[in-house]
Amino acid sequence: MNKTKLVSEMSRNEVLDHINETVCPEEGRIPAFILGDPTIYKLEEEQIFMKTWLFLGHESEIANKGDYITRDLAGYSIIIAKDDEGTIRAFYNMCTHRGMKLCRADHGNKKTFTCPYHGFNFKNNGKLVGVPLQKEIYGDTLDKEKMSLHQVTIETYKGCIFGTWNPDPEPLSDFLGDFKFYWDLVICRAEMVVLGPPQRYIIHSHWKTGADNFVGDSYHTMVTHGSIAQLGMVPGPKYSKKGVQVHTENGHGCNIGMPNPIYAFPEELIPEYKENLSPEQFEIISNLKNTNGNLFPNLSFLVSHTEIKGQHISNTSLRQWRPVGPDKMEVITWFLVEKHASEDWKRRSRESFVLTFSPSGIFEQDDTEVFTDITAAAKGILPQIREMNLNYTMGLHREPLKDFPGPGVVYDDKFTEASHRNYYKYWLELLNRGRKETEDGE
Ligand code: FES
Ligand SMILES: [Fe+2]
Repeated sequence: MNKTKLVSEMSRNEVLDHINETVCPEEGRIPAFILGDPTIYKLEEEQIFMKTWLFLGHESEIANKGDYITRDLAGYSIIIAKDDEGTIRAFYNMCTHRGMKLCRADHGNKKTFTCPYHGFNFKNNGKLVGVPLQKEIYGDTLDKEKMSLHQVTIETYKGCIFGTWNPDPEPLSDFLGDFKFYWDLVICRAEMVVLGPPQRYIIHSHWKTGADNFVGDSYHTMVTHGSIAQLGMVPGPKYSKKGVQVHTENGHGCNIGMPNPIYAFPEELIPEYKENLSPEQFEIISNLKNTNGNLFPNLSFLVSHTEIKGQHISNTSLRQWRPVGPDKMEVITWFLVEKHASEDWKRRSRESFVLTFSPSGIFEQDDTEVFTDITAAAKGILPQIREMNLNYTMGLHREPLKDFPGPGVVYDDKFTEASHRNYYKYWLELLNRGRKETEDGE
């Protein structure tokens, strides 16, 4: 391999050969260039984001008939609407007359969507129902039946809506696999609702920096968030070491902080937790200090807690690292809360979230500084960056636990990088799967 040859000058198979030579998750070796090279970014776009399931939103965001949200699915705008019969549907946000973006609002409630260009009118089930001056200008020739909005494939799991551009996707449930055991703790320990529209902001960071951090990096909290310990907000700098790290198939992974001497969930909801969770899951939630994780490729989650007005309150959020370029991403954060908690508890839980992991939150600001500086170092086409490896060897010498009550590969103690290695292993597999499909089709 010519070391000065730019990745953009290589053929697709040369790029994949180069990635396979240099990215070695099993040995804990990940080259920095995969966090910033524009050609790798394009490959990810094609082989990962166009093919896998991506999170779009939560059913509670469209609780009523006629509610809709507009979201991005791998760079393309879609409308997710609950139609008048109560069915959730997703449509490509493009008018079938001349291609205008049909809906330009983020959310709302509508029976019909009227195109801003020539006024074609679509029902919230996607059917074209109105055309200005139809009889006069088209006579009987316009077949409105054939002009419905283009449907987009979606599936839901426990209130979470996922979409994909893959015409033949694996079932969402299979994609989530064993990780559902842990994902359930976050999104269906009780009936959960999203409060308010998601918060969104754009930072100059590569999308994988966020996923990489949330999939299993508790180690950084001692330093990046060291001020928290100095301020006495947590007992000490090694606060986040205790617990387990888990990974499952398909690149999913999380850290679970345990035990917690302080129960930070609403006590009155214990019966609901018991009803929604298995005894093993309930045992974990009863001892949970915090959990952070990442559902491949770019949906992270977090349950943490802080003291608000003398009481420990947990807060739950989902965060998506939406790529908008090799060195830029939009961070989208949903705040979730137990629907049946008291209004006071919900308010304080939200306060706990805003103080810590909203865009103005103390942890969030620490993290985004790191993501941005990593991206600045790794970005671009610098050939030398391909010789610079990052180290993911932590915990390679350790054996997983044999008796943890949940599935997956579980390590005692959160300070390991097994989840990262599992994440990049699947990342590599998907990029190579693209080549295999191309070769099979040749
Ligand atoms: S492009 Fe929508 S009505 Fe013409
Ligand atoms: Fe952090």
